[in-house]
Amino acid sequence: MSQEKMVEIQNLYVNFYTQSGVVKAIDGVNLILYKGETFGLVGETGCGKSVTANSVMKLIPQPPGKIERGRIFFMPPGGTEEEMQRIQEQMNELRSKPDLPKDDTQLKKLEKEMAEQRAVADITARWNVLWKQPASPERDAKISELDRELYAILNKYDLIPRTKKYMQKIRGKYISMIFQEPMAALNPVFTAGFQISEVLLLHERRELAMSALKSVEEEKKYLKTHKLAKKIKDVKGENKCSICSSAVQDEMERCPNCDNYFKAIPLKPLKTMSLSYTAAKLKRVKKNPYSFINKRLAGRRIKLESMERAERMLRLVRIPDPQKVVNSYPHELSGGMQQRVMIAIALACKPQMLIADEPTTALDVTIQAQILKLMRELQEETGTSILMITHNLGVVAEICDRVGVMYAGVIAEVGPTGPVFKEPLHPYTQGLMNSIPKVNIDLPRLETIEGNVPNLIKPPGGCRFHPRCPYAMDICRKEKPPMMEIRPNHLAACHLYTGVTF
Ligand SMILES: Nc1ncnc2c1ncn2[C@@H]1O[C@H](COP(=O)(O)OP(=O)(O)OP(=O)(O)O)[C@@H](O)[C@H]1O
Ligand SMILES: [Mg+2]
Repeated sequence: MSQEKMVEIQNLYVNFYTQSGVVKAIDGVNLILYKGETFGLVGETGCGKSVTANSVMKLIPQPPGKIERGRIFFMPPGGTEEEMQRIQEQMNELRSKPDLPKDDTQLKKLEKEMAEQRAVADITARWNVLWKQPASPERDAKISELDRELYAILNKYDLIPRTKKYMQKIRGKYISMIFQEPMAALNPVFTAGFQISEVLLLHERRELAMSALKSVEEEKKYLKTHKLAKKIKDVKGENKCSICSSAVQDEMERCPNCDNYFKAIPLKPLKTMSLSYTAAKLKRVKKNPYSFINKRLAGRRIKLESMERAERMLRLVRIPDPQKVVNSYPHELSGGMQQRVMIAIALACKPQMLIADEPTTALDVTIQAQILKLMRELQEETGTSILMITHNLGVVAEICDRVGVMYAGVIAEVGPTGPVFKEPLHPYTQGLMNSIPKVNIDLPRLETIEGNVPNLIKPPGGCRFHPRCPYAMDICRKEKPPMMEIRPNHLAACHLYTGVTF
């Protein structure tokens, strides 16, 4: 697993100011997600999983919600050997080019990145030395000085102080989210195709212009050679090529026999001159994706291209009859279909980070397996990190590399999936694992965790789990337990493990 961080949440506190009181939904969450990993977030209902995910996207409704404190770093430099080696390799590759100008912008960017990585590595090394020293006010002062130094480098990666406009550039393109309730997340007045193409038009205009340009060039070529080439439907309803009369399938763009290009047909036949004009405009978009273009010619081409890609995305998420669904409104779709439209929107731009908030709850088991496979394929192809929020512990065991267990707004335990499932440390995780029904054991009653998640307006003091914990001690009622690394990479926040090492 990579040691490069994708998202680092530090000390996050989120409150909701409601009429009945302040809901302390997130109470000091710390979490790191690495590049290319699948991280499962589990916990009972109302534990704060969705609020944590929405905070990363900065989608907490404000009011009543408010991010009180905390930092959320997106792709921060970690100062690890691995990162520095990757940047060094990229720099060497660039430098080996014989015609590289001295002030090449990409090389300059890499050099800047490298300097940042070195500074972070240096501060981390000094921090580690200080941390091992016996506690004293001087040591603490030096540590907070180092923290300030580190934040001065990392603050540009912090999403919390970012503007709405900046977040709009990040959302969809770099961080995508499959929301828990598709009906509430989809816009009821736009078609599914429009909503998928919207993301593409916002973030991938250049790529769309490039493929539109390709088809315009093809059309130009085709107009020159075969003025009247078409797909013609005969009496039996079969498609035939108008040039060589051989049978062609609906989805074919070219005649398999004479290589005629059909893509031009659904559009109004354009004269070569307007095609050249459109091509010139599309080339402008290729240079500057937000340049002004004629809506009727080049704009229409880009839109058509985006709708085609939307249809392809729908096919990818295994929606039956994508041609129809692309023009359907959300209320015309079933719950499972809406969820798949949401998944198509989230995956359209191949994001770096995918937050999947119960992505497969409305789907039957076969589709669920297909969607999980699709996510894994995306991960293999683009190195996407996935934050998988689910109640289905089977899905977590199947696909997650690491798992985090949340309880009442705090992270109770984090670790690699195998150890967390086999030897859970926190009493809450033990309770969750025991409540999984087992087919090979005959029990008169299924095991449960006594009680309910507390009301977060008046959460219990100390450890929030203590009223339900079978091992609760005095200290649990008074002090909030810190997160401790009990086994390698396996952390738990529980007083039971104070001073214990395995
Ligand atoms: N808009 C809001 N106004 C007031 N309280 C809210 C709001 N949104 C969330 N909360 C509170 O925040 C807490 C965490 O909610 P969250 O939606 O994150 O739970 P969850 O872990 O995702 O649960 P589930 O598994 O049911 O989806 C809950 O106590 C909830 O009541
Ligand atoms: Mg939720």
